[in-house]
Amino acid sequence: MQELMTPSIKITPVAQSRVDQVELNNSIVMGTQFTDHMFVCDYVNGAWSNPRIEPLNLIPTHPAAMALHYGQAIFEGMKATLGQDGTPLLFRPDQNAKRMNFSADRMGMPHLPEDLFVEALKQFVALEKQWIPTQEGSALYLRPFMYADEPFIGMRAATTYKFVIIGSPAGPFFSRKIKLYAEKKYVRAVNGGTGEAKAAGNYAAAIRPTEYAKAKGYDQVLWLDAHDFNYIQEVGTMNIFFKIDGKFITPDLSGSILAGITRMSVIDVLRSRGYEVTERPITLDEIVAASQNGTLEEAFGAGTAVGIAHIEEIGNNDMTIKFPSENPVSDMVADTLEGIKKQTIEDQFGWMIPAK
Ligand SMILES: Cc1ncc(COP(=O)(O)O)c(C=O)c1O
Repeated sequence: MQELMTPSIKITPVAQSRVDQVELNNSIVMGTQFTDHMFVCDYVNGAWSNPRIEPLNLIPTHPAAMALHYGQAIFEGMKATLGQDGTPLLFRPDQNAKRMNFSADRMGMPHLPEDLFVEALKQFVALEKQWIPTQEGSALYLRPFMYADEPFIGMRAATTYKFVIIGSPAGPFFSRKIKLYAEKKYVRAVNGGTGEAKAAGNYAAAIRPTEYAKAKGYDQVLWLDAHDFNYIQEVGTMNIFFKIDGKFITPDLSGSILAGITRMSVIDVLRSRGYEVTERPITLDEIVAASQNGTLEEAFGAGTAVGIAHIEEIGNNDMTIKFPSENPVSDMVADTLEGIKKQTIEDQFGWMIPAK
């Protein structure tokens, strides 16, 4: 076994698990129930210290904690599943570790050693194994996050932080077709901004426009570029793919889009099945034209929380694009990802990491 470069994790288990009080086999809504424990680690004096797993509890926060005022807060999202032999599995946790540090760089926050990130997740998930739902489409959602907890008023990087992991069982996601509002007034991100980091503030900025889109009967916002309001960026908490004339396209990572781990996995799955996938700038006009000339075949959002979400419509006050009702290739991608995560399909990519 590889020796850890990080201090060992102290585990204080709960006296009595609450898992029996939660019906894991019903449609449990992600983010509403939390597992018994949390992982916590403190950044003080320039180093991460005291990694521990302890009963889930409130974390005392000073009213001047800098995350509350200046928004130094980043997070990750990923899922754990059970393999066929009951082993808890993590999906590409190394990628989340890398992305967390990418976000940390942008937000002036410290790196977390990648081996500590992955080891903390493994030990946390091994301890919370009984919280992993087994139904198709279900998983244990994991939320690693880092925030500035130094009490200070003034604009500079904080000197103390907390890194925490919590878990929330997420019920079966039955893929439902979604309608996207192509937003031409508000923007989520600009090149040079924080859009390619998983920074809490990006989501705060998206809340009100998403409410407006929902009030108009849409499920999510389709974000466009901040300059021309024509280049397609991403959706809510998903990246986006289109199939036009047999080939897949997805917006390139231009500097304002989150590099989704589902996105990179979808690209690998599609290419492994012989599909051409191109990452490039995509305009809304181009999708309208493909719809009009009959070459627009499929479209879906891809992200950890929802998996693969078929798109049935993109619209706004000026236009409506309707998508074909059949999504055979998107269905194949969804089934492949789910099968790899539950070990019902061979993990040819070596993505699943046992948590034990
Ligand atoms: C803004 C945004 N885009 C895309 C994604 C998809 O990323 P992933 O596939 O890593 O979940 C997410 C979810 O994390 C997101 O919040």
